Amino acid sequence: MAGTEIFGREEIAAAADVIERKMIHRYGSHHLRGGVYRAEEFEDAAKAITGSKYALAVSSGTAALITALKGIGVKPGDEVITSPFTFIATVEAIVACDAVPILGELDETLSLDAASAEKLVTPRTKAIMPVHMFGVAADMDKFVALGKKYSIPIIEDACEVVGGTYKGRALGGIGDCGAWSFDPNKTLTVGEAGMVFTDDHDTWFRMDCYHDHGHVHSKEHDRGAEGKFGFGVNYRISELQGALGVVALKKMPEALASLRATKKKIIDAGVAAGLTPRPMHDAEGDTATHVIFMLPTAEAARKFQAASGCAVIADNTWHYAKHWKALQEMGEKEYFGNRTPSYMPETMAQAESLLSRAVMFGLNIHMSDEETEKMIKAVEAGAKAAL
Ligand SMILES: Cc1ncc(COP(=O)(O)O)c(C=O)c1O
Repeated sequence: MAGTEIFGREEIAAAADVIERKMIHRYGSHHLRGGVYRAEEFEDAAKAITGSKYALAVSSGTAALITALKGIGVKPGDEVITSPFTFIATVEAIVACDAVPILGELDETLSLDAASAEKLVTPRTKAIMPVHMFGVAADMDKFVALGKKYSIPIIEDACEVVGGTYKGRALGGIGDCGAWSFDPNKTLTVGEAGMVFTDDHDTWFRMDCYHDHGHVHSKEHDRGAEGKFGFGVNYRISELQGALGVVALKKMPEALASLRATKKKIIDAGVAAGLTPRPMHDAEGDTATHVIFMLPTAEAARKFQAASGCAVIADNTWHYAKHWKALQEMGEKEYFGNRTPSYMPETMAQAESLLSRAVMFGLNIHMSDEETEKMIKAVEAGAKAAL
């Protein structure tokens, strides 16, 4: 299991330090801190990875997406284009802003297809949210070009790709905003937290205030004495999460290297058995905790599944909009002066044609030779049965 798998003495020391100093909250109490701000250090470490001008740590990846949407000024009834293959949080973030989720099609890498997103642009489109799904980059050059062409902000849902890259650039730092998650299922976890990135000062300022009840943060004033800017919520992280985050980002290169080494062995074995791995826009930047192969037909995928015990992605109720009843129920309704489209499964035929052929194995960060060999045997058995 990802996340806590790599916890060790470093996390214990980092957490103990916060507790011993009794400085568990990130804002205020400046005279008692001795200049130590762990949440800020976490943000600085994240910024150093993406090269973004601003990073804001928040309480979850979902909070990061909502904060980004609020930061760019999404209003009720606005449309936000995203992918039908994502964790439900992407769509929930749009709905939390009373905006309308508009679902595009997938490209062959299983990320949002930029050409399909362009066809969905209307005067009400206020953001496009490509999702770097299952550890793999969406085609960011195309999204950046699309954003420029229509003057629409691109918000990267990079919750699953902390440390991932696209053509040498860190994911989360390419679009107008980007969001990372550190929830317990991620390779790097702090329990719960997210990070939101931007290069734009005004967007950062709105996000910074929004995530903390509209407080205008300042080290000159203590809590309560600072200025106020608009309404907000409480998406703050604690110093405990900040301290764990600093450790997590230090461990990132080693964790990703271990995952990549295992993946390579399994993908190579699959290719030798005649399988087609999931195509990627930039395989070097892949951070996936999965290995995915694309079978020629849905029937072949079922045969592969029966022989190997793997999952077929089309069945995945967490990550495929076809399964989300709550979304279906909000379809074809009047909605803050706009109208929602249908979200019924038949509107997702193109995604279905890809996801019903996609078979997937989940990985741990560290896998023994025996565990890897067992997975390779399953891949080979699947290939023999299906091809
Ligand atoms: C693609 C994607 N977006 C958003 C999120 C939300 O992150 P969190 O669980 O930290 O709220 C996740 C988490 O699984 C995710 O995978």
